[in-house]
Amino acid sequence: MALRSLFLHLLTALTAARAITVYNQLPLAAQTTASTATSSGAAPAATGNYTGLAAYDPTTWPPPALPNPLPATQFALDLMPSADTVQGISMQVPGSFFGISIEMSVATQVLGINASFLQVPFLNLMALIADRAGQVVIRVGGNTQDYATLVANTSDGRMVEKQAIDPNNPTGTPTLIFTDELLYTMANISKFVNVKWFLGVPFDDSTNIHMEIVEHGEQIIGNNLLGFQVSNEPDLYAKHLHRNETYGASDFYVEFGNWRDAFNNDALVPAKKTMIGPSLSLWNTTYWSLDDTWNTGFLPNYVDNLYALSVERYPADNCDFFYGGTVVYPPDVFPDYLSHSSGKGLVSNLLDSTLVAQQYSLPFIMFETNSASCGGFAGVSNVYGIALWALDYGLQMVYSNLTHALVHVGGQDVFYNPFTPPPTNESLYHEWTIGPIFYSILAMTEVLGNTNTSRVVDLFANGDNDLTPAYAIYENDELARVALFNYMDDPTGAAALDVTIAVGGNATGQPLATPSQVRVKYLAAPSVSEKFNITWAGRTLGGMYECDGRLNGTEEIVTVPCDTTAGTCTVHVPAPGFALVFVSDAALQDAQAQATATFPTTALTKTINTVSVDAAALQTSNGHSGRTRVLGSTSKGSASSAPHGVTVSGWVAVGAGLVSGLAALLVAVA
Ligand SMILES: *[C@@H]1O[C@H](CO)[C@@H](O)[C@H](O)[C@H]1NC(C)=O
Ligand SMILES: *[C@@H]1O[C@H](CO)[C@@H](O)[C@H](O)[C@H]1NC(C)=O
Ligand SMILES: *[C@@H]1O[C@H](CO)[C@@H](O)[C@H](O)[C@H]1NC(C)=O
Ligand SMILES: *[C@@H]1O[C@H](CO)[C@@H](O)[C@H](O)[C@H]1NC(C)=O
Ligand SMILES: *[C@@H]1O[C@H](CO)[C@@H](O)[C@H](O)[C@H]1NC(C)=O
Ligand SMILES: *[C@@H]1O[C@H](CO)[C@@H](O)[C@H](O)[C@H]1NC(C)=O
Ligand SMILES: *[C@@H]1O[C@H](CO)[C@@H](O)[C@H](O)[C@H]1NC(C)=O
Ligand SMILES: *[C@@H]1O[C@H](CO)[C@@H](O)[C@H](O)[C@H]1NC(C)=O
Ligand SMILES: *[C@@H]1O[C@H](CO)[C@@H](O)[C@H](O)[C@H]1NC(C)=O
Ligand SMILES: *[C@@H]1O[C@H](CO)[C@@H](O)[C@H](O)[C@H]1NC(C)=O
Ligand SMILES: *[C@@H]1O[C@H](CO)[C@@H](O)[C@H](O)[C@H]1NC(C)=O
Ligand SMILES: *[C@@H]1O[C@H](CO)[C@@H](O)[C@H](O)[C@H]1NC(C)=O
Repeated sequence: MALRSLFLHLLTALTAARAITVYNQLPLAAQTTASTATSSGAAPAATGNYTGLAAYDPTTWPPPALPNPLPATQFALDLMPSADTVQGISMQVPGSFFGISIEMSVATQVLGINASFLQVPFLNLMALIADRAGQVVIRVGGNTQDYATLVANTSDGRMVEKQAIDPNNPTGTPTLIFTDELLYTMANISKFVNVKWFLGVPFDDSTNIHMEIVEHGEQIIGNNLLGFQVSNEPDLYAKHLHRNETYGASDFYVEFGNWRDAFNNDALVPAKKTMIGPSLSLWNTTYWSLDDTWNTGFLPNYVDNLYALSVERYPADNCDFFYGGTVVYPPDVFPDYLSHSSGKGLVSNLLDSTLVAQQYSLPFIMFETNSASCGGFAGVSNVYGIALWALDYGLQMVYSNLTHALVHVGGQDVFYNPFTPPPTNESLYHEWTIGPIFYSILAMTEVLGNTNTSRVVDLFANGDNDLTPAYAIYENDELARVALFNYMDDPTGAAALDVTIAVGGNATGQPLATPSQVRVKYLAAPSVSEKFNITWAGRTLGGMYECDGRLNGTEEIVTVPCDTTAGTCTVHVPAPGFALVFVSDAALQDAQAQATATFPTTALTKTINTVSVDAAALQTSNGHSGRTRVLGSTSKGSASSAPHGVTVSGWVAVGAGLVSGLAALLVAVA
């Protein structure tokens, strides 16, 4: 279609306004690992004097005090040039290590209203990951999956409809019904961005097995559906009164076997090696540990049907906050996250099992995680410090031989979301809000690169100091990148680090291989308590309600010349800070965003704004990874009538980042 006509169509479409009702948001689409609360859901208490939605809570806390004395701020890392000689290095992991976990009950808000109306900011955010990692893995499931039923149609025509709230689950997640439209939505998303999916099955009743989601899922999503999560946190079933109080590993083994038989006996299910379990929360390993599950014979007996092994872990919970119990005072736990020990503690009881997974050639997936279950902590889960924590925790998981970790997205009433669509009643004039943990997901794609060959080793840097961890990343078994963290917050700069990197040479007994220069990208913010002024290589996803899913700014890559005589490169890491050091140009190249395909779409909007399309931007692809993206600019207008569809050639991200005030738009798939 000609640009001029596109322009006119957009004007027609966008002078129109109609509020599209996104399915109403339920509080607390979160998991619990350790709650003792069983009462039904009281409304979340306010933090400080703020009484609005948790996702927009402005609370911040002062950065934790610096240690006295400071750890050494100058230290050396002598690195082996080749992975062959690196003790304890991980297996190879994909660049798509970090994925997303979406609570089934919020799928409509995040993915789109139906298969024809997808959320453009969501597509753009996923494209940021896929452009770098080659793909994105996303799980749709969670507490809601166990009681979710596939139906032919819902009473209100929506693809997901909530039923009763489970009074015994402290996360207050609802039971729900959904239609094939949800599966078509997932399938259509994969036509735009290379998203691979995991789906949860309803494990509620293992004698009356509902295979419909598996049958329809395989048929509709096809090869883009990697596997099915069979049971969600079964070690919490007894506690949440979904099974009797003696329910344990051997009962679970039997139920999982019933599902295995159902998979194998179902002629409508062609792919059989797609089951994922046991997805334990490990809240009480005395009661039920991973070993208890392996001891039932789970692995030899079910391996032929298993796509992967899984767990779901959070370092803490904030469940009592939501039920009027003992409230965690967030500053008390803030320092726990600004520490290398946190991630190490979370993986410590998984190490035996990740080796077991390797023996059976199975991926081991952290199926759901975030900073704290039941929504996270105000001013902790949503600040820059948590971005550092998640990146360190993620690298620790890679080092520990996990294959993926899926970062959980809840609703409007949680603090920890990587991204949050605007509240339905404000979606006419607001865009999305990016949480700091999304930057960890983004940065991780470049830490690992796109070759699927990255292996990671914890360098136990600076005497294994908790505040200054570092990792080396080997790609194709050659040193490619070095990841340097500084958890300390010091406006004076005295706690900034100068890390001296040497490759090969005397300390390693290898030939000197230090390059003449290295390149560095920073994940930067002025303070660990910063909520929005966060940049990855100089670019940001903006402040509250500001993000349409695209990075703003010019990419900044710092070149650091090395001392070729001494064979050392000295890299500065601010306090706080994260630096990714690219040891070679190849290492930089493997981590750059790659072009992906262009898709024909139809845009449709619900905004009160008018839009103009920048024809030049359309022609030149705006330099964004080669994909044809449409830049629109808006000014506030007013109008009302029904929306119109617009057919355009190319990736449509109408209501571009140039302008604030344009609502999250939806794409109608042609
Ligand atoms: C809440 O408001 C009161 C009165 O305006 C003020 O004194 C207090 O500092 C506020 N508390 C917080 C946490 O902002
Ligand atoms: C939208 O709803 C939220 C939650 O109910 C409320 O806090 C907010 O004030 C509402 N916004 C508007 C503009 O009414
Ligand atoms: C998808 O949602 C839009 C907006 O609510 C609606 O106009 C359209 O009819 C829906 N399409 C289907 C197939 O339900
Ligand atoms: C998206 O899904 C709908 C089913 O609701 C289907 O009719 C349509 O063809 C799909 N679009 C694309 C591009 O596959
Ligand atoms: C489902 O759709 C059929 C046919 O369109 C209709 O007769 C029936 O009432 C619908 N059921 C519900 C629960 O809406
Ligand atoms: C508890 O449930 C298991 C099966 O899940 C069953 O074997 C056992 O008999 C039940 N125990 C009681 C006390 O009901
Ligand atoms: C953990 O499980 C053990 C064994 O079932 C039990 O004795 C203990 O009370 C449980 N701990 C908690 C905190 O529930
Ligand atoms: C990860 O796997 C590799 C290869 O099997 C092994 O050498 C290494 O010890 C494992 N790491 C951990 C922390 O278990
Ligand atoms: C990395 O792995 C993914 C998933 O298996 C695959 O789609 C992709 O092609 C791989 N990339 C490379 C460079 O091999
Ligand atoms: C490396 O070893 C050689 C031979 O032992 C020695 O001459 C040289 O000074 C050493 N270099 C460094 C940087 O230690
Ligand atoms: C944002 O943070 C950077 C440091 O990361 C700082 O230099 C800059 O001044 C900050 N900008 C604002 C507006 O606070
Ligand atoms: C992008 O950054 C520039 C410079 O900081 C700012 O003026 C502009 O509003 C930003 N655009 C968006 C969409 O955030």
